[in-house]
Amino acid sequence: MVRHFLRDDDLNPSEQSAVLDLADTFAADRFHARPLEGPRAVAVIFDKPSTRTRVSFSVGIAELGGYPLVIDSSTTQMGRGESVEDTTRVLERMVSALVWRTFDQSAVEAMAGVSTVPVVNALTDDFHPCQLLADLQAVRQHKGGLAGLVVTYLGDAANNLAHSFLLAGATAGMHVRIAGPDGHLPRADIVADAEQIATRTGGSVVVTTSAQKAVEGADVLATDTWVSMGQEEQTAHRQRLFGDYCIDAAAMSRADPAAVVLHCLPAYRGKEIAAEVLDGPQSIVWDEAENRLHAQKALLTWLLAPGQA
Ligand code: CP
Repeated sequence: MVRHFLRDDDLNPSEQSAVLDLADTFAADRFHARPLEGPRAVAVIFDKPSTRTRVSFSVGIAELGGYPLVIDSSTTQMGRGESVEDTTRVLERMVSALVWRTFDQSAVEAMAGVSTVPVVNALTDDFHPCQLLADLQAVRQHKGGLAGLVVTYLGDAANNLAHSFLLAGATAGMHVRIAGPDGHLPRADIVADAEQIATRTGGSVVVTTSAQKAVEGADVLATDTWVSMGQEEQTAHRQRLFGDYCIDAAAMSRADPAAVVLHCLPAYRGKEIAAEVLDGPQSIVWDEAENRLHAQKALLTWLLAPGQA
């Protein structure tokens, strides 16, 4: 049965661990495996801008022996209204996997609904699961493991990163704390899913409006831009709204002294994260960014032959 990666909990705990182990193997040996030898093509489709996702999938697919077919959807018939289903039925005849950055989660679900090749969510408005694989790999590299660690996400707690931290963190057995202002907290159904996963992994989930409580003793602090793609007109309002949820020196002083800091990038210094933190010794954001390459290569390798990683 074909496997897709549309949200973080599409990998169960042992599968997530296997993909992260393989990501470490790829980090140590960039050409460890070439499952796309041929070259077999992978379509990487963008409805939104990207730097890291575009480059890491392009380089990663090439390093796996394949051909990265990077598509700006606005230049295709998708941009003129051809349906997701019809587009998928054509592409899957020619490519070995489909990677898509788009808006609605329902769109990647529709693609997976008809695709006989793996579909990968490269960011939707609801989830950014490839980012979380890279994040978890970075935390493992710096902390030696994941289970039992406290990971705190501050800021826009209703966005895709917050949702992915809930599901991926709970899957890894972490204690996930999500803090944001009233009205910008995670979706209740996703919190419930994370809580359900945590009961099986030994993790836990806390959602709060208190940034101070959320960072107390945390092992990992994470944030994201307060203005996601498509929200640019709300910039001034959102900067006022999220001002108390900045990862700055005060937040760092409440976290565990050995805490590490994640940011998926692009970052806005002086807004969601202080420059001294992003550029400081506890920041692991550049390893995190590099890991997009290793983690996505591992994910594609695993999806092309599930269970063999
Ligand atoms: N973090 C991330 O997804 O970066 P890009 O938007 O540059 O791909």
